[in-house]
Amino acid sequence: MKHRNVAVVIGGQWGDEGKGKVVDLISPSFELVARYQGGHNAGHTVKFEDKHLALRLIPSGICRKGVLNVIGNGVVIDPRALLSEMASLRKEGVEIGDNLRVSDRAHVILPTHALLDGAREKALGGANIGTTSRGIGPAYESKANRSGIRMADLVDADRFIAVARPLLAHHDAVLKHFSGVEGPTVEETMDEYVACGRELAGYVTDTSTLLGSAIRSGKKILCEGAQGVMLDVDHGTYPFVTSSSCAAGGASIGLGIPPASIGLVLAVMKAYTTRVGSGPFPTELFDSVGEHIRKRGNEFGTVTGRPRRVGWFDAVVARTTVRISGIDAVALTKLDVLDEMDEIRICTHYEVNGKEIGEIPARADHYDAAKPVYRTFPGWKTSTAGISSFGDLPVNAQQYLEALEGIVDAKVALLSTGPKRDETIRRAGTPLDGWLA
Ligand code: GDP
Ligand code: IMO
Ligand code: MG
Repeated sequence: MKHRNVAVVIGGQWGDEGKGKVVDLISPSFELVARYQGGHNAGHTVKFEDKHLALRLIPSGICRKGVLNVIGNGVVIDPRALLSEMASLRKEGVEIGDNLRVSDRAHVILPTHALLDGAREKALGGANIGTTSRGIGPAYESKANRSGIRMADLVDADRFIAVARPLLAHHDAVLKHFSGVEGPTVEETMDEYVACGRELAGYVTDTSTLLGSAIRSGKKILCEGAQGVMLDVDHGTYPFVTSSSCAAGGASIGLGIPPASIGLVLAVMKAYTTRVGSGPFPTELFDSVGEHIRKRGNEFGTVTGRPRRVGWFDAVVARTTVRISGIDAVALTKLDVLDEMDEIRICTHYEVNGKEIGEIPARADHYDAAKPVYRTFPGWKTSTAGISSFGDLPVNAQQYLEALEGIVDAKVALLSTGPKRDETIRRAGTPLDGWLA
């Protein structure tokens, strides 16, 4: 492969690692930014000046002039959510026009997908996944069972009506029969979606072809992962995962670009761990330390407002991300949240019946027996806000970071000490060097 001008940013844990901040920060060095999976279950925060944006479907390069933003074929799109996101960004002064393109192959989330999502979660009771109830899983199901509707169908009213009617009628029957849920009528949904299709038609195109010629002409492309590797449908803590391929490999499938065009993988990880929804979380904290991190880190969901579960940095998780996605460097976020801690822990491995385990178990129920084994580090007890070089960090923070790099076997290239663009330390001499202006 002649061109290796594609970089991929992924979430290295269970989502909400700060991908939005990192993508927005580095996007001026790229001509295109592309989302390759997930949907409006994602909430990517971008903060600069007095702006606080929560992006869901639109890539986090949207605030940068001259960057073309692509929503790829691997994304599932609720057209109402996309239009409402466009409207709220415009209200914030963000221009949206020729700088946004949407794949004609991306699948459409129907209102009944969201109703099915909610009904299934309800039926699972205490064993539920804790989804975002946005219809993500059911929409990917329709895609996989080949009854789904794509953006190319949505933008043509006659075609949409022809393909949507049988699917909507089927959903309607399933919802009524199994859940007693009465949704909007088939006609109501079709009217609403035909109107959405009309508004979105100008943005919809063959984005794989577009990206292919961008790659051949040497343009730099940044792929923006949603969720995180531990929520990946294959490699995460199944079944407590999302329904798409969040790992770096997903970028090739979800955008229709050659795997060999990927020249850099950057994993965003928090200096601790959070997760929203149910499922295994061996390093979870239930005490005042966890409460302190949740408050100081403002760990409440961007999409649902749910309090995020909080715990220590889990190197078993991080090493899994490194292995599966072959990462070149880490962007470590939220170091400032640990500023006041007396001591800080990293889980190096798990122990099951006295035996050391360095990999995540295949079965969620096997996590119950996995006890985290920690290395403990002294805190630095001073503010890291505004520090702009690695060498100026408190010695204890430097030692924590160097130990973390050793345990994870990856270099920290970017270090974030606050939500804003300038609250970031860029380290020289890492694989990022050739990519950023
Ligand atoms: P994403 O889904 O990976 O894009 O992450 P979210 O935006 O859902 O959650 C990350 C949250 O942390 C957002 O509120 C960010 O503004 C905030 N954030 C990002 N980096 C930092 C940091 O280094 N320090 C602090 N205190 N907040 C940060
Ligand atoms: P970003 O991109 C954190 C979680 C949900 C739930 C599981 C399945 O902002 O990091 P779904 O609605 O996808 O079927 O829910 O995945 N989840 C996320 N958690 N960040 C996200 O996105 C998430 N997207 C989904 O909480 O546990
Ligand atoms: Mg988020």
